[in-house]
Amino acid sequence: MVDVILGLQWGDEGKGKIVDYFAKNYDVIARFQGGPNAGHTLYKDGQKIVLHQIPSGIFYEGKVNLIGNGVVLDPITLKKECERVAAFGVHLQDRLYISEKANIIIPTHRSLDRASEAAKGKEKIGSTLKGIGPAYMDKTGRNALRVGDILSSNFQNAYNALKAKHQALLKTFNYTDDITQDEIAFFEAVGFLKTLPIVSGEYFINQKIKEGKKILAEGAQGSMLDIDFGTFPFVTSSNTITAGVCSGLGIAPQHIQEIIGITKAYCTRVGSGPFPTELENEDGQKLRDIGKEYGATTGRPRRCGWIDLVALNYACMINGITKIVMTKADVLDNFDTLQICTAYQLEDNIIKQMPFRLDDVNYQPVLETFEGWNSETPSIKKYDALPDKMKTYINFINRYLGVNIHYISNGPEREQLIEI
Ligand code: GDP
Ligand code: IMO
Ligand code: MG
Repeated sequence: MVDVILGLQWGDEGKGKIVDYFAKNYDVIARFQGGPNAGHTLYKDGQKIVLHQIPSGIFYEGKVNLIGNGVVLDPITLKKECERVAAFGVHLQDRLYISEKANIIIPTHRSLDRASEAAKGKEKIGSTLKGIGPAYMDKTGRNALRVGDILSSNFQNAYNALKAKHQALLKTFNYTDDITQDEIAFFEAVGFLKTLPIVSGEYFINQKIKEGKKILAEGAQGSMLDIDFGTFPFVTSSNTITAGVCSGLGIAPQHIQEIIGITKAYCTRVGSGPFPTELENEDGQKLRDIGKEYGATTGRPRRCGWIDLVALNYACMINGITKIVMTKADVLDNFDTLQICTAYQLEDNIIKQMPFRLDDVNYQPVLETFEGWNSETPSIKKYDALPDKMKTYINFINRYLGVNIHYISNGPEREQLIEI
């Protein structure tokens, strides 16, 4: 049996916290796509930790974590993360398994990411510059190195050949950089990677399913950053949606049961691209300040705005969401009024479906106004004790989406989660 937790917006919905909370109910926690562009925050012994590639179940004893074939893995980042996690007394060799089919990010992938973004100028995607796009291009272009390849005596030659291809491409960008230090770190990190269990991820996970174990698939990024269904071209390079679970882990769709979607009580986006409900005013700044909306991976300020039900409704449809978790509800505690986007307007047309492109014309959000609850909620433990005005806000969203919010997160700590 497999359940899925993934983001419904443009990433950073609080997946790390929510997966860390639910992981206690599962045997295996698996990442199925993305790479070090992700930054999943959780708290361990009161200390904040940001995981980029390691699944967010890593702190539970007796559970295993899998990095699936759909992930693009940067050995350098992985080694650093493993050192950080090991400092808490976690023995990673017992808990972290890596699919031999996961693709590897090499230093020149990051150079290509930088070169491509620089060449785009004002049109840049706002990539995290972790080499994600170029690494997935090598996968679909059938050039990539995979984790299993590091065990081959031919690895150095294969690496040199791929690097030479990248260098030829970098010349066309007129881009040069010095990666000497990165390459030293890369080969050291590849040495470390060999100490972790490298497995056939698909046999590994299907065997667990056969044994009746419970699997939790942890998404990275968000549905609106999906390569097929997001706000293309301002997206990431993988399938972030439920469908990505099957191809990113090698499991059949009928094993999937609950599909839990996470949304913030408002909306954020980091990087470029359309964002109809963005607030470039005092309210936007207030959301950023109270919500501490700065990127967990890049430290960039996140763009902030009201919750967008057109986009959320679309994300629920594409993913087959069965339950919603609404995070950061506490961030809205001190607003006199709140707004919810129920449609987009283009001249006289009211649109409730996601348009083909959002960035070529100026869609205006149609906004419904709600009274704020103006009271402190972070210490509340039961749904009944939440302010009535928050319940009105939640019920409106439930009715619009036709899928219910089952949990409300009212603070960053693991236990700040209210079941409805
Ligand atoms: P992820 O990428 O989806 O895992 O999300 P990030 O970790 O990038 O960003 C979410 C941020 O919000 C982190 O700093 C979390 O600690 C924080 N957070 C998560 N849930 C809540 C919540 O309910 N309330 C508040 N105030 N912060 C939260
Ligand atoms: P988590 O898992 C938010 C955004 C980047 C950029 C676009 C493409 O923490 O939610 P990429 O580096 O993938 O080529 O960047 O996607 N992006 C994210 N935004 N959260 C993330 O991950 C993201 N990963 C990528 O800002 O706009
Ligand atoms: Mg994040």
